[in-house]
Amino acid sequence: MVEPGALLYEGKAKKVYATPSPDRVVVEYKDDATAFNGQKRGTIEGKGAVNNRMSNLFFRLLEAHGVPTHFVEELSERRTVVRRVDIVPVEVVVRNLAAGSMAARLGIPEGTALRRPIVEFYYKNDELGDPLVTPDHVEVLGWASAEELEEIRRLALRVNEVLGEFLAAQNVRLVDFKLEFGRTGDGRIVLADEISPDTCRFWDLKTGEKLDKDRFRRDLGGVEQAYQEMMRRVEGGLGR
Ligand code: TMP
Ligand code: ASP
Repeated sequence: MVEPGALLYEGKAKKVYATPSPDRVVVEYKDDATAFNGQKRGTIEGKGAVNNRMSNLFFRLLEAHGVPTHFVEELSERRTVVRRVDIVPVEVVVRNLAAGSMAARLGIPEGTALRRPIVEFYYKNDELGDPLVTPDHVEVLGWASAEELEEIRRLALRVNEVLGEFLAAQNVRLVDFKLEFGRTGDGRIVLADEISPDTCRFWDLKTGEKLDKDRFRRDLGGVEQAYQEMMRRVEGGLGR
């Protein structure tokens, strides 16, 4: 059993603790929720447990399909051991339908289908509000090498295929999602952070009902219920 040591970092939704092993850390998921770069704050009861469990189930599913991740071992309802990585300071968004910031920026109705998935990069910087950047910015400013960027794009599209197919079988449309990648000690790129209703748009395939954090961002109500419903569907799809 890994006992968490010193607190290394506290973010908006997670805390990270040291472990006796230098290449492992413990992530703890909180119920705290923020939106619009921290301007909107609240609590989503049970969110930490859902995001921990769902991320880990997705990471294991992805590993089984050849996507390397930071996942090591789930410790408890809210805590997981992961590999310690250097986070690439770029948020990678994959979109299957226009929604959210893309729909707003380009004046496209939410839900418009895209001919093929779009991959976007955002520079992780709270002061700047995570600005949209191009692959050239990522490479020239040294956030990732050209080879790493190519690997990140390949893995992001593979995640989209694997999760899109899995979720469709649970009556969920994977509209878009955000990933973060890290470098291991030996320089390999692995999927890190989380994959949860906080970081994805999930729409019911038949009704279009939103089953993700947009219920919180947009004050739609039924936030906790949406997280629990998504957890139920993901567990159901994995026979749990
Ligand atoms: P966006 O449409 O607001 O750019 O969001 C795209 C996807 O990224 C959506 O599934 C939600 C997720 N996301 C995060 O995980 N963190 C963020 O800070 C933002 C803005 C979006
Ligand atoms: N990263 C955003 C914030 O802090 C959250 C979001 O919209 O998902 O506040």
